[in-house]
Amino acid sequence: MSSSTVITNIATLVTNDPSSGDTSPLGLIQDAAVVIDGDRVAWTGESRKAPATDNRVDAGGRAVLPGFVDSHSHLVFAGDRTQEFNARMSGRSYTAGGIRTTVAATRAASDAELEANLTHYLGEALRQGTTTFETKSGYGLTVEDEARALRIAARHTDEVTYLGAHIVSPEHADDPAAYVALVTGEMLDACAPHARWIDVFCEKGAFDGDQARAILTAGKAKGLHPRIHANQLSYGPGVQLAVELDAASADHCTHLTDADVDALANSDTVATLLPGAEFSTRAEWPDARRLLDAGVTVALSTDCNPGSSFTSSVPFCVALAVRDMRMTPDEAVWSATAGGAAALRRTDIGRLTPGARADLLLLDAPSHVHLAYRPGVPLVSGVWRAGVRVV
Ligand code: NIG
Ligand code: FE
Repeated sequence: MSSSTVITNIATLVTNDPSSGDTSPLGLIQDAAVVIDGDRVAWTGESRKAPATDNRVDAGGRAVLPGFVDSHSHLVFAGDRTQEFNARMSGRSYTAGGIRTTVAATRAASDAELEANLTHYLGEALRQGTTTFETKSGYGLTVEDEARALRIAARHTDEVTYLGAHIVSPEHADDPAAYVALVTGEMLDACAPHARWIDVFCEKGAFDGDQARAILTAGKAKGLHPRIHANQLSYGPGVQLAVELDAASADHCTHLTDADVDALANSDTVATLLPGAEFSTRAEWPDARRLLDAGVTVALSTDCNPGSSFTSSVPFCVALAVRDMRMTPDEAVWSATAGGAAALRRTDIGRLTPGARADLLLLDAPSHVHLAYRPGVPLVSGVWRAGVRVV
């Protein structure tokens, strides 16, 4: 029989359960307790009503919330791009071209080096509260290098995304059509068994709308579900395409027309905002307020990668979203938990309700608001993943 644990004396519990009685979507319960049974949440409610269990943890008047769901990262890579970052901070602008530097370093790395790198950044993320993460290929751009990136990623997460269409490979620079044929043909055949999702960077300097449609449609035919890097550096067709193809998520969404916002609001496609990218590229912030006011479901994720957003910290992204993207602390915490789960079309994570996976964080603070109120402070002081305390 699995053992049960009660965490009591929680000042603020974030459940993300709209039926909790709290009027905010966070489903807040004050003076709360959570019971974990095996790998699941068994009960939540007021501390004084908590049922008896085998083990007891005293939260000491601190906050508990669902583990963060980081629904967008690029963690299978080698090397870094410090010089490129330095140049940007002296006035250069970000372009998709820098991806080639990481492609060269990733191809040259051994499997063991790539896996050690991935494990290192995952450890960072876990200590900052990430209990589910999605990650992509996209720095291989050959059949073998893309497939091995996905094989390595799949040892660490179920949320694996094939991004052979990150940029046109250097070998096909003069013949992009041949590269699209490879991505939708032999490379897709080799990669599909290792992935759940297919992604494309739909942007000037990467893939246009027609190419992106062909790539995502081919992936769908192989059983992969679409998500898209859309409207990051300029206005373009990515968001409309995401909605047309019922993509789980349109990611970045920095440059949106009113028609793009309307299309998202009338769809099941989540807008995933990645403020680490705007921070690290000194770019204009996505307008989260406009999306939220239109009724779009918004997720917040790190986009952790060595080029445009070298942070594994969801708390940092929450603080940026509140300070610079005009989200309230409640909205940002919802988007980093339940929003990320929606962007992965998951209902078993991102919430603390009976039956959900017992992924939860103990903050060294009395409420979740402190994540934005005390930026840069390592507030995550306990992490449970599938019922097991890992931090
Ligand atoms: O999401 N935009 C495309 N891909 C990444 C950046 C990759 C890189 O610069 O290495 C992103 O920002
Ligand atoms: Fe990305």
